[in-house]
Amino acid sequence: MEFVLYEVKDAVGVITINREKALNALNSQVLDELNQTLDGVDLETIRCLILTGAGEKSFVAGADIGEMSTLTKAEGEAFGKKGNDVFRKLETFPIPVIAAVNGFALGGGCEISMSCDIRICSENAVFGQPEAGLGITPGFGGTQRLARLVGPGMAKQMIYTARNIKADEALRIGLVNAVYPQDELMAQAEKMAAGIAKNAPIAVRNCKKAINDGLDADMDEAIVIEEKLFGDCFETEDQRYGMKCFLEKVKDKEPFKNK
Ligand code: CAA
Repeated sequence: MEFVLYEVKDAVGVITINREKALNALNSQVLDELNQTLDGVDLETIRCLILTGAGEKSFVAGADIGEMSTLTKAEGEAFGKKGNDVFRKLETFPIPVIAAVNGFALGGGCEISMSCDIRICSENAVFGQPEAGLGITPGFGGTQRLARLVGPGMAKQMIYTARNIKADEALRIGLVNAVYPQDELMAQAEKMAAGIAKNAPIAVRNCKKAINDGLDADMDEAIVIEEKLFGDCFETEDQRYGMKCFLEKVKDKEPFKNK
């Protein structure tokens, strides 16, 4: 692949968008390669993904403005669908995905980070939805996910004004969970991923599904979604072993088996 790198470190997969000359902007090829990369993740062995951008300046500076500049209405809609399909695959990916935002996360860059389960960023990170200044709306889920993450008032302010915000403000409004010096960001992402990877994989996947599906439902339906996914964990080897270790006060547990 030309623009997407995939590296495996123990049970963690690291996806790097690698189009540094264009600040990792998302053209159709990058979107296709991301899609293929996700399809290739070995879900038997990988328990968490990290998504980041190449270099120290930009995570993803948005959808490719050159490619979009001449699109017709129909082509624009199709490009939006192409991005949305990949981002939705990421959002509903069975295992958690941490966005390690290492610089600019603008437009499609902010949007792809919001399709991840968790966002952490470097001190030089900049978030924003500049689309209205380019004559378009956000097109890869920004109008929907930003409003859900930071509330409609703040999302509308950011989107209508097209004003970028720095890492400290992103932290304050809850768009990111933590801010680190650039040279510590990947280590922190890997530490968090390892902390997720050591827990029972079936349980972690069911947690992700319960939270995601529950957020799309009303509370009566949502608690039933949880009950089913909770019940689904029982009789697994990992549930039996995890509870046995607690009851028998085992200090050094064996790794969970994903069974
Ligand atoms: N698309 C295409 N190319 C991009 C790009 C993008 N989104 N962002 C940066 N680049 C390219 C620049 O054209 C430039 O290429 P050349 O060297 O060939 O001229 C290279 O990356 C470096 O960029 P700059 O010289 O502009 O770097 P800078 O440090 O001066 O500025 C920046 C950095 C503030 C991020 C600026 O590049 C910028 O504003 N980029 C665009 C950000 C943006 O508007 N993103 C939203 C796109 S719309 C979208 O994403 C729609 C959607 O929801 C689907």
